[in-house]
Amino acid sequence: MANWTFDDIPDQSGRTAIVTGANTGIGFETARMLALRGAAVIIACRDLGKGDAALARIRAEMPAAKVSVAALDLADLDSVATFARGFAEHHDRLDLLIANAGVMVPPRSRTKQGFELQIGTNHLGHFALVAKLMPLLERTAGARIVVVASTAAHFGRIDLADLSSERKAYRGWSAYGQSKLANLLFVRELGRRLEGAGSPVRVTAAHPGWTATDLQRTAGLARMFNPVFAMKPKDGALPTLRAAVDPAAAQGDYFGPSGMFELRGAPVSARLPKRALDDAMAQRLWSISETLTGVPFAVQPRERARAAI
Ligand SMILES: NC(=O)c1ccc[n+]([C@@H]2O[C@H](COP(=O)([O-])OP(=O)(O)OC[C@H]3O[C@@H](n4cnc5c(N)ncnc54)[C@H](OP(=O)(O)O)[C@@H]3O)[C@@H](O)[C@H]2O)c1
Repeated sequence: MANWTFDDIPDQSGRTAIVTGANTGIGFETARMLALRGAAVIIACRDLGKGDAALARIRAEMPAAKVSVAALDLADLDSVATFARGFAEHHDRLDLLIANAGVMVPPRSRTKQGFELQIGTNHLGHFALVAKLMPLLERTAGARIVVVASTAAHFGRIDLADLSSERKAYRGWSAYGQSKLANLLFVRELGRRLEGAGSPVRVTAAHPGWTATDLQRTAGLARMFNPVFAMKPKDGALPTLRAAVDPAAAQGDYFGPSGMFELRGAPVSARLPKRALDDAMAQRLWSISETLTGVPFAVQPRERARAAI
């Protein structure tokens, strides 16, 4: 098959998409391309000023683009709840929920509820967001969730007894790897539950290889090599877009760049880390995520989800 590109994105008219962290980087390009294909896109971001600037960039290219900005801070579960409530009040469908936002190797810091920032933002915030928007996704025919992971999941290990590095020394890369492995375990467990319930909702995952964005703001070495190895954000967004709209993508499919070490290239099926296939761990992580966020996550059986469509 020829390389999957922007031209492969089917018409998205009439569809509604939320992209978290869409004010910049890969999220911005994901939102931009979905909007260019006719989707109504919500830029969900923690800094409304940056969100408005992103919206203006998309409108400059396509004045009729259906784009809006909404406040969402994934490092604050109250903000997640407020965003989800507000969204459900004003929308009767959600076709695509793209869990893209992320932080990488920040200095040791915590979310509002006290979780280590990377597990708290990258995994727990998105876990709560998806759980809260699930009823709306279940009411929308053909709805899909995409979680943006990373090749860093290959070196990730989940420490269920100390997810937030309270009892061990904080190591930024280990905490990032853990959060990105958690993304993949979440996709696997959610996919298993959706499958088990016969739910019409699909969940997929993607990673952007190595893409030059603000993500490397606190990773000096990676930033230094960006000009040599990294893709541009518009190319780094393609695995996410394929995971979101390729009609052939099945429950739990994972997309990444085709090139060496999956660092760059057109989006193809990506290699899941061995530890992402640990279903017992995925179930334990799910339970602990419900406990830590205080958000129960229920998947409706197909009949109830269908009845609501
Ligand atoms: N770039 C790569 O090479 C690479 C590789 C593997 C995986 N990824 C993954 O790709 C995704 C997108 O990253 P990117 O490269 O596009 O990085 P980026 O340019 O730094 O974008 C990250 C986005 O996440 C947002 N964000 C961070 N914390 C947030 C919070 N608490 N609440 C809401 N939004 C928050 C950022 O908002 P602000 O602008 O306000 O900070 C920004 O919009 C991430 O999940 C990342 O882990 C990227």
